[in-house]
Amino acid sequence: MRHFISIGDLSREEAVSVLATAEHMAETQSRSLRKLPTLVGATVVNLFFEDSTRTRISFEAAAKRLSADVINFSAKGSSLSKGESLKDTALTLQAMGADAVVVRSGSSGAAHLLAHAGWIDQPIVNAGDGAHEHPTQAMLDAFTLRRHLRPGDARAGLDGLHVVIVGDVLHSRVARSNVLLLTLLGARVTLVAPPALVPVGASAWPCEITYDLDEALAAAPDAVMMLRVQRERMVGGGFFPTAGEYSRRYGLTVARADTLPEHAIVMHPGPMNRGFEIAGAVADSPRSVIVEQVASGVFVRMAVLYHLLATDVREGPREN
Ligand code: CP
Repeated sequence: MRHFISIGDLSREEAVSVLATAEHMAETQSRSLRKLPTLVGATVVNLFFEDSTRTRISFEAAAKRLSADVINFSAKGSSLSKGESLKDTALTLQAMGADAVVVRSGSSGAAHLLAHAGWIDQPIVNAGDGAHEHPTQAMLDAFTLRRHLRPGDARAGLDGLHVVIVGDVLHSRVARSNVLLLTLLGARVTLVAPPALVPVGASAWPCEITYDLDEALAAAPDAVMMLRVQRERMVGGGFFPTAGEYSRRYGLTVARADTLPEHAIVMHPGPMNRGFEIAGAVADSPRSVIVEQVASGVFVRMAVLYHLLATDVREGPREN
């Protein structure tokens, strides 16, 4: 792998290989000495044009646990607020000796542009670009799903599983990356959303689409992934009548969660709107793996950095 921009760039074999490496990373992180010397001397730059808690911190933790140096660069307080271009920012990062750049941007295609414009030679990792993709989120979701529903085989896919993804699909880079990855790994995916929150063109995605959450839950899925309603991107409104109406039709209430099969898990990429798309009691219930998804993010991001930067890539890191 040269860059990590889109799930669409991956073969099933490559995706499984990264997940297998993440399993090795998880094993090493349960030891008393968690730091690995794999990326000593490398510098990873986190370039965040949009706010982030989980992704930015977990990329930082992942790079540090592999012994890389980390430079955190956020748009706020940088020369970007003075109008500096993406090109000049890239040239500055290259001059500072970055070995890999992790980029989050509100613009779909920003990571692809950085990787392919010829401004910078280093591997680029997409940490979320607009409503396009969030590929490491999908990888950590697949990792978490596999640990719960296909345990014991580090090279297993998600064959035969049924995952229901619910909510604001229109603004969700998480939904698009998950549809691509989960189906690549053999799962069946159903999207549930109000009609106005289904993207134009989603009918060509490799999944089913319905407007009826209760109908989707009646199919006894193995996992339900709730999406954040991204109200900050709904300028002008009109996507659903009221917040209460949305919660009644598309919220994962305790009553709805109680209809799920006993083994089914509940996921959310975060940040959550508790009491809106998901009841607080469901988010905190034993079937919720939401906090575990955050921990999985560190292992998966260690694996991605390892595959991009380690010179002798196997599925386990060198430890001395
Ligand atoms: N899931 C996710 O991308 O969260 P952050 O915006 O906090 O990084």
